[in-house]
Amino acid sequence: MTTPRHTYGRGRLAAAFGGLAAATLAVAIAVPAAAAGSTLQAAASESGRYFGTAIAASRLGDGTYTSIANREFNMITAENEMKMDATEPSRGQFSYSSGDRIVNWARQNGKQVRGHALAWHSQQPGWMQNLSGTDLRNAMLNHVTQVASYYKGKIYAWDVVNEAFADGSSGGRRDSNLQRTGNDWIEAAFRAARAADPNAKLCYNDYNTDNWSHAKTQGVYNMVRDFKSRGVPIDCVGFQAHFNSGNPVPSNYDVTLRNFAALGVDVQITELDIEGSGSSQAQQYQGVVQACLSVARCTGITVWGVRDSDSWRASGTPLLFDGSGNKKAAYTSVLNQLNAGGTTNPNPNPTTPVPTPTTTTPPPTGGGSCTATYSEGQKWGDRFNGTVTIRANGNISGWTSTVTVRSPQKIIATWSGSPSWDSSGNVMTMRPSGSGALSSGQTTSFGFTVQHNGTWTWPSVTCAAS
Ligand code: XIL
Repeated sequence: MTTPRHTYGRGRLAAAFGGLAAATLAVAIAVPAAAAGSTLQAAASESGRYFGTAIAASRLGDGTYTSIANREFNMITAENEMKMDATEPSRGQFSYSSGDRIVNWARQNGKQVRGHALAWHSQQPGWMQNLSGTDLRNAMLNHVTQVASYYKGKIYAWDVVNEAFADGSSGGRRDSNLQRTGNDWIEAAFRAARAADPNAKLCYNDYNTDNWSHAKTQGVYNMVRDFKSRGVPIDCVGFQAHFNSGNPVPSNYDVTLRNFAALGVDVQITELDIEGSGSSQAQQYQGVVQACLSVARCTGITVWGVRDSDSWRASGTPLLFDGSGNKKAAYTSVLNQLNAGGTTNPNPNPTTPVPTPTTTTPPPTGGGSCTATYSEGQKWGDRFNGTVTIRANGNISGWTSTVTVRSPQKIIATWSGSPSWDSSGNVMTMRPSGSGALSSGQTTSFGFTVQHNGTWTWPSVTCAAS
C-alpha cells in the first residue's frame, strides 16, 4: 500500500525529516511563530484537541510545577483526589476538600477537568472493601450519584468505571468485589452517572487495551459495542497508555483508536507515560500523538504528571519534563507532532466493516507454549532495528512468530530466521532457520530492520508454539 495513511494539514517538519532527525533538527530550524503552537495546549488546540496532565493537590504549592502545568496543559485530572477512598473515606461521609483544590485551581486558570474515577476495584475506602452483594452495589451507586452530583457542571468527562477487565487472554471481566455484585454493575454505574450529571461525557477507562489484537482490548470493545446497541449511556473510552519496554506502544494503536471511535464514542489517551529516555522515548511519544491525531474522534491526550519526579513511576523517567522542569526530547517530539497537523481521519466512516475480534492462538500441539518479547535495537534517521526473543514455556518442538509493522513502515532486512510475508507486506511470519525445538525456559531470538517512513511505533509481535 503506497497511499500515505496520514495527510498533514500544516507544518511538516517531522514528516519531512522523520524520527530521530526531526527531533533534533526541528529545534534548530524553529517553526515560524505564527504557524505553530509553542505550548502543548496551544499546539493541540489547533486541531480542536486538548492536552492535559494529572495534578496532585499536594504539589500545588510548588511554583515550578504550577507554572509548567499552567503554561502547557488545558485539561486537568486529579491524580488521586477524586477516587473513592479520597471522596468517601467513611460510608456516607463525603470529603471533597482535596478534589476541590484541584478543580478550583483548574477553573481559576481556565482549564477543564476530567473526573477520575467513580467506580474502581482499587483505591476503595476500607469500609467498601469489606462489603459485598446488594449492600456493595447500593453503596457504589450512591457513591457515583453523590460524587457526580457534587461536581455537576464542572467535569468535561468522567471515568465512570476504571479497569474492570482482566489482563491476559480471557478477554473477560476482572474478578473484584464490584464484579461479584453482578455483571451489570458497569452499566448500572453509567446510568447513575448520567442521571447525576447529564452534561458530562461518560467514559470507560482501562490499561493494556492499546493493542488491537489483545484479548483485553477486544473484551472492552465488545462491551462498548453492546452498550451502544442497548442504549447504555457511554460517550467515550479512555486509554491509560502506561508504556515501558515490556509493554511498548503498539504499531496498531491507530487501528485500535479508530475501531473504538467507529462505535460512536470519543476516544482519549488518559494517563500517558512512557518509561525511557532520549530519542527512543521521544519517538514512542511521537507515535502515540500521531495515532491520536489520525483519528478524528480522539479528542485529547493527558500525560500522567508534569515532571519525571512527579510521576508514580519516577524511576522510569516517563514524562515530558525532567526533575528540574526542563523540556525533554520527548516534549519536543510531542510538540512537533502536534504542530505537524491535526490530521483528519482519512476514513472517518469506514465502509469496510470493523475488523472482527482476532481469534486467540490455538493451543500448541507440542505441549508447551511460547511468548514473544520485542526489544529495541539501534536507531537511525530512517530506520531502526528490533529483536524478538522467543521463550518456551514448557517443551516445544517448534515455533512461529509474527511481526506486524504499521504502514508505511516496511521491514527491509531480517536475520536469524526464515521470513515470509502476507500480501500487505506489513505482517512478517518468522520461522526458525533450524529445528525450532526449545526446552522449557530456553530462549532464541531473531532480528529485523524497519524502515519507518516517519511512523515511529514499535512492531507488535506474537508467538505460537507447536
Ligand atoms: C496512580 C497514582 O498515580 C498514584 O499516585 C497512586 O499511588 C496509585 O494510582 N491507573 C489509574 C490511575 O487509573 O488512577 C493510577 O494512578 C495509575 C494507574
